Amino acid sequence: MNNSIVEVKNIWKRYEIKRWGLKRIAFNALINVSLNVSKGETVGILGESGCGKTTLGKIILDLEKPDKGEVFWFGKKLKELTKEEYKIYRPKFQAVFQDPYSSLNPRYKIADILLEPYLINVEKNKKKGLEKAEEVLNLVGLRTEVLKKYPHALSGGERQRVALARALMVSPSLIVLDEPTSALDITLAVQILELLKDFKKSFNLSYILISHSLPVVLYLSDWIVVMYLGRIVEICKKDVFSKVKHHPYTLMLLDAHPDPFSPKRFFSKKVKGEIASPLYRPNGCEFHPRCEEREKACSENIPQLRKINDFQYIACFKR
Ligand SMILES: Nc1ncnc2c1ncn2[C@@H]1O[C@H](COP(=O)(O)OP(=O)(O)OP(=O)(O)O)[C@@H](O)[C@H]1O
Ligand SMILES: [Mg+2]
Repeated sequence: MNNSIVEVKNIWKRYEIKRWGLKRIAFNALINVSLNVSKGETVGILGESGCGKTTLGKIILDLEKPDKGEVFWFGKKLKELTKEEYKIYRPKFQAVFQDPYSSLNPRYKIADILLEPYLINVEKNKKKGLEKAEEVLNLVGLRTEVLKKYPHALSGGERQRVALARALMVSPSLIVLDEPTSALDITLAVQILELLKDFKKSFNLSYILISHSLPVVLYLSDWIVVMYLGRIVEICKKDVFSKVKHHPYTLMLLDAHPDPFSPKRFFSKKVKGEIASPLYRPNGCEFHPRCEEREKACSENIPQLRKINDFQYIACFKR
């Protein structure tokens, strides 16, 4: 694929957990997941807790290995990269997680937190590293005084800016943003989203934006990927998102977050049914027990993700 920064093809991931300390249960956290992120593009990944968003992010970052399927970095199979290529490509993929409290080492000053990735991945030159640190702090809207502080001396929003600054220290091509704003209150969240939007434009950065919030995903993404129990059930281009017919699960999410800026949101319906677990997969379409449009076939067969047109893919018999 042209300008592909990362691509995953037919990824499966299986985990095993121990139940009641005894019995081991294996389950699929990801099933046949494929997606591509091109240069400068943001792909938003939406879905309820446990649907496999973070697992997919970790596989993209090579923090987890898939059981089946392939990961491509810059069009090359990750498995086949030479050590030298891996060393060059690895820092191009960075992450910012939800909780800046736990992702920043509390024993390091901000200067050291920012310097560490630079000294390891860019060059062993502390002076230049500090210059870069001042530059990125400026970009994320923090004063250089924070360099001397420890993470606990900063507010939640400032900490998330530091996490973003650390990712920018190594001039990445793609940042996996895993719930980057969900620990922040709305004003701070909006500020971080605006920063991310600016960086996307100025540096032609790609993002994978993981969130359970439709408004957040819509704000930043070029493509919206909706996951349910480890499968992609819909891929839709943002430009057409408000104009097309969606997967019934996407519609349910839309119902829960109709329009973030509309007063009607206060009357929105709640998401229906229990949040499903990959440990107990229904037969057929896994969403069918919660689906208002279900038919007999939905409980018997699994719908595959199908191309509707150049802007939309849906896994549903009714679309
Ligand atoms: N290391 C692991 N060992 C066993 N099970 C795991 C492991 N990591 C994740 N899981 C399970 O895999 C499933 C997918 O988890 P994942 O963290 O990817 O979901 P998520 O969509 O990011 O959820 P959330 O919105 O709560 O962050 C969950 O059922 C989770 O409990
Ligand atoms: Mg997660």
